[in-house]
Amino acid sequence: MPYNVAVVGATGNVGREVLQILAERRFPVKDVVALASERSVGAELSFGDQDLKVRSLADFDFKGTDIVLSSPGAKVSAEFTPRAAKAGAVVIDNTSHFRMDPDVPLVVPEVNPQAIADYKKRNIIANPNCSTIQLVVALRPLHALATIKRVVVSTYQSVSGAGKEAMDELFTQTRAVYVNDAIKREIFPKQIGFNVIPQIDVFMEDGQTKEEWKMMVETKKILDPRIKLTATCVRVPVFIGHAEAVTVEFEKPITADEARAALRKAPGVSVVDHRVEEGYVTPLEVVGEDNVYVSRMREDPTVDNGLSFWCVADNLRKGAALNAVQIAELLVKDYL
Ligand SMILES: NC(=O)c1ccc[n+]([C@@H]2O[C@H](COP(=O)([O-])OP(=O)(O)OC[C@H]3O[C@@H](n4cnc5c(N)ncnc54)[C@H](OP(=O)(O)O)[C@@H]3O)[C@@H](O)[C@H]2O)c1
Repeated sequence: MPYNVAVVGATGNVGREVLQILAERRFPVKDVVALASERSVGAELSFGDQDLKVRSLADFDFKGTDIVLSSPGAKVSAEFTPRAAKAGAVVIDNTSHFRMDPDVPLVVPEVNPQAIADYKKRNIIANPNCSTIQLVVALRPLHALATIKRVVVSTYQSVSGAGKEAMDELFTQTRAVYVNDAIKREIFPKQIGFNVIPQIDVFMEDGQTKEEWKMMVETKKILDPRIKLTATCVRVPVFIGHAEAVTVEFEKPITADEARAALRKAPGVSVVDHRVEEGYVTPLEVVGEDNVYVSRMREDPTVDNGLSFWCVADNLRKGAALNAVQIAELLVKDYL
């Protein structure tokens, strides 16, 4: 049975990718509506062979809409999502607003697909943070094998994670350096061109940034509340693709070979791990790819039962749009 789908934030980095992935995976749509702010009304977006004219979210009536895939930012989501849910649509929300609500499931289909069943409480399903999604996809098979006690992760996050204006800022700053123009800063707290910034999102009282806190609490909610996790999240001058250096301490012994074998069998993971030059995957190489790539798996001799690895994914696809569309696919297959 085909469904009426609305894509909210359709003109953004994530929204455009959602439209592309819905078409690529032949999601069973009856009608697709592209919604954004008043600024974009009338603009055209591609959906397969069709051109969609962008409509305004503010006055859209969600009656008759079955599924909403939403990425307009947390504040806008907080305001419109209850309205859409009340009208009977199931909202799959990419923003941070509902993720830690106990009545809203937080889902990564390869990790906790069963949690989708809880969507009925509020008609909302939350899509996790991009850096959390790729991490838990890689951690789940290892947790099943040897039980994770503690994770230390450092991220190298691309500018597309902060939206389309952030990508423009990296471009114009890079250009400005080459042509000797003044550097303008609007989105990032420091210059991102030719630099790295150890701050993503705002600071919390304990000194963590909110991005680091999100990785901790979301991993607990999705995978296991007993896992201890500490993160350092860093923005790097890369357009698309997040990378993570991950160190894990397990309860039970586990070798690098066993970890690689488990990851090779796991859904959504590709292992590329040759201990030679070029024998690993970098962010540039995963743009447009669906899987989470794991490289550089090795034993950590400084703790009992420790492993370290490198993990890379397309933050706009698996880190956002693809994960949301996979949730929608499970929703229509098992629940609607
Ligand atoms: N990028 C990622 O890797 C990623 C991953 C996971 C989650 N997310 C989350 O997804 C959300 C969007 O990210 P993005 O990268 O797509 O941002 P973006 O490129 O800046 O796009 C923002 C989208 O929201 C729309 N919007 C803004 N204000 C609106 C309003 N008042 N009413 C209706 N629509 C409005 C924009 O429409 P206009 O074009 O009309 O302004 C645009 O379509 C954020 O909450 C982000 O945290 C992003």
